Amino acid sequence: MSRTVTKAIFPVAGLGTRFLPATKSIPKEIMTLVDRPLIQYAIDEARAAGIEEFIFVTSRGKGALEDYFDHAHELESSLKKSGKNDLLDILRETNMDSGAIAYVRQHKALGLGHAVWCARRLLQDEPVAVVLTDDVIMGEPPCLQQMIEAYQETGGTMVATMEVPTEKTKSYGVLDVAEDMGAIVRARGMVEKPKENPPSNLAVIGRYILAPTVMENLNKLKQGAGGEIQLTDAIADEIEAGRDVFGLRFRGQRFDCGSKAGFLQATVAFGLARDELKDEFGDYLADVMSMRKAAE
Ligand code: UTP
Repeated sequence: MSRTVTKAIFPVAGLGTRFLPATKSIPKEIMTLVDRPLIQYAIDEARAAGIEEFIFVTSRGKGALEDYFDHAHELESSLKKSGKNDLLDILRETNMDSGAIAYVRQHKALGLGHAVWCARRLLQDEPVAVVLTDDVIMGEPPCLQQMIEAYQETGGTMVATMEVPTEKTKSYGVLDVAEDMGAIVRARGMVEKPKENPPSNLAVIGRYILAPTVMENLNKLKQGAGGEIQLTDAIADEIEAGRDVFGLRFRGQRFDCGSKAGFLQATVAFGLARDELKDEFGDYLADVMSMRKAAE
């Protein structure tokens, strides 16, 4: 089977309850870090990794997300007329080719595994990337590109992984490591949100490259941890069946933008990374910190 990865699934059908009331009317993926919606960071990362087809698994109330990918012709011609070429460039960089995006619907939020399964008819016998837009990653080369390069060596199924303190493992899928080869580990098991005795400190975060057999496993899956159909279970079934599952310790910083604290941290990091903001914003943060210290 070819190891070329040209399709990516973006599951965006979750309810986003941690951001209520905002998510009552705005899809979480449209919320912005500085001036770009979360979805744009995910798309840019996928494009940099060579992805050509983008499959969104959406749900009710995600209209603003679909609209975001329309070309803004009126806005473009008004910017052109007024000579605002820098803004025009920013806008045009977000344009996607006609037919590059497909939307499938998940009718009920039955879990990440179920959301990925909803895209099955758009895939042939080929590997597919899965990108969770909640996980925004600062890294060079971008995380998915690192994974695709590693996957070209290993094949199998690959997940992005990072070390977390033991007390945090209960919030993640955790790898049971059979062989540690440095940047890449081979897994002998995977446990979703272990309540106790995590098999390692290697947490799985929201980037995956799935072998086609993972979709077959999802066909058979029943509800797992938390009553949801878990992608972790379908990947663990690969190992059970004697097929390879690898974790990549990616280089970069990951922000959990599905949580409020993670979103705020990302806002600070991406704000400070912008040339036009770093001085003013950096000074402001320094002032806040010194006022905080003085008040202690
Ligand atoms: P989360 O576990 O963060 O759930 O999903 P959520 O609904 O987005 O947010 P909270 O916890 O209610 O605040 C992780 C990713 O999986 C997608 C979500 O859209 C998110 O990108 N997902 C989750 C689905 O597409 N469908 C599901 O049934 C569940």
